Amino acid sequence: MNWAVTTYDSAFGYVSAHGAPLVDLLDPQPGERVIDLGCGAGTFSAEIAERGADVLGIDGSLDMVAQATAHYPGLSFAVGDAHNFTTSESFDAVASNAALHWMTRDPDAVIASVHAALRPGGRFVAEMGGAGNCAELIAAMQTAWRVFGLGEPELPWYFPSPAEYTNRLEEGGFTVRLLEYADRPTRMTEGPNGAADWVRTYAASAMADVPPELVEPLLGRINDLAAPALRRESGWVADYVRLRFAAVRKPDGKSPLDVL
Ligand SMILES: C[S@@+](CC[C@H](N)C(=O)[O-])C[C@H]1O[C@@H](n2cnc3c(N)ncnc32)[C@H](O)[C@@H]1O
Repeated sequence: MNWAVTTYDSAFGYVSAHGAPLVDLLDPQPGERVIDLGCGAGTFSAEIAERGADVLGIDGSLDMVAQATAHYPGLSFAVGDAHNFTTSESFDAVASNAALHWMTRDPDAVIASVHAALRPGGRFVAEMGGAGNCAELIAAMQTAWRVFGLGEPELPWYFPSPAEYTNRLEEGGFTVRLLEYADRPTRMTEGPNGAADWVRTYAASAMADVPPELVEPLLGRINDLAAPALRRESGWVADYVRLRFAAVRKPDGKSPLDVL
């Protein structure tokens, strides 16, 4: 998809702000080689680099990679699709913040690409939307679409349950060391039009199918529908549900336990 880089980075900086503790779970060591998968404008890559690791940010969007390179000229960034990227050398860790749920075509292919990029024992540490993420926002979208006779919106996300993603990781050759699944109500601090701004930014592909004359009334209706659940006196809150995990690539070959 095409990302409106400026809108995304300035209006919704909270996506990156919430990535901060993830770097502690990753715990990058000086000299380690780390990929930031779905790096966007490079904020999380820079946090990893601050710990002394060598970072390669990979993103499917040319615009995002250009933005990241402009922000952090000292770091390495490359355009690549997470489903099929390859590396010429092995990495110690692959990290990913708020990006895996956008990689909807084939989650197993993403996990296989990460596996191939890691050395045995290498870490895969990520945070993504989990099952039920943005349920109120999505329900408001679906109702508004129906009200305006537009059928069902095409939702561009993959929000797995903890069990589903754990299975995929285990089947893909990883040992899951930690997996958290938690509500993360998140203030939309810089999107003054609440749910409407959120939909404009994050559901741009669904909005692209909406006839121009219906865009504003549809967004207004989404705000009306979502407000009872998501608008507080202090402002709008997104009903985020996050999956966060740390997994380790299993050693190659048979483990001693396999031959007992
Ligand atoms: C919400 S942004 C998160 C960016 C960044 N990780 C952060 O924490 O701010 C999601 C990013 O995933 C990227 N992305 C989506 N699908 C991708 C794919 N198949 N391969 C690589 N990057 C992808 C998008 O281009 C976008 O930059």
